[in-house]
Amino acid sequence: MALVVEDIIARCRAALAEHTPQLAVRDVLDELVADPAALDQAVGPVEVGGISVLHNAGDLTILRVAWTPGMALNPHDHRMWAVIGMYGGQEDNAFYRRAADGLEPAGGRELPAGDVLVLGDDAIHSVTNSRREFALALHVYGGDFFTASRSEWDFETFTEGPRDLDRTRRLFDEANARWRASG
Ligand SMILES: [Fe+2]
Repeated sequence: MALVVEDIIARCRAALAEHTPQLAVRDVLDELVADPAALDQAVGPVEVGGISVLHNAGDLTILRVAWTPGMALNPHDHRMWAVIGMYGGQEDNAFYRRAADGLEPAGGRELPAGDVLVLGDDAIHSVTNSRREFALALHVYGGDFFTASRSEWDFETFTEGPRDLDRTRRLFDEANARWRASG
């Protein structure tokens, strides 16, 4: 039977009951991204970059994120565990830790299709798609992604402010417009 979104939700929900939910979700995403064609079919094709909500509850959020080519999302935290499973393109993650005057860089990781990354509750990262194709991922969070209070930091000054999802949407809009214009 073809994979459908309800299967993805059910498998992640089952993982929540495990002793270490984020590791159980990682195992689920490992299996899902191993068959990108089935995943693509289940969640649908990507026309423009953006965030699609597959599931949103108080204890679990599942998003399909399509990073537009050339897009860079400034550093931010989640204050809940997160698991990222790539099934197309590549996202480049840079990590940071808090410092006296904002943030300091703390390494990074390139995530090509097929890779899965687990982020702890206190992780701070920025994400860049430096390829000329969409970077496609499932992002699973151990809470309500949309209502939790969180921080983001300016890319240049590392000044901290409240996470602004409208700003994130504008970044997608701008990146989509640039990508369309580049033909
Ligand atoms: Fe993030």
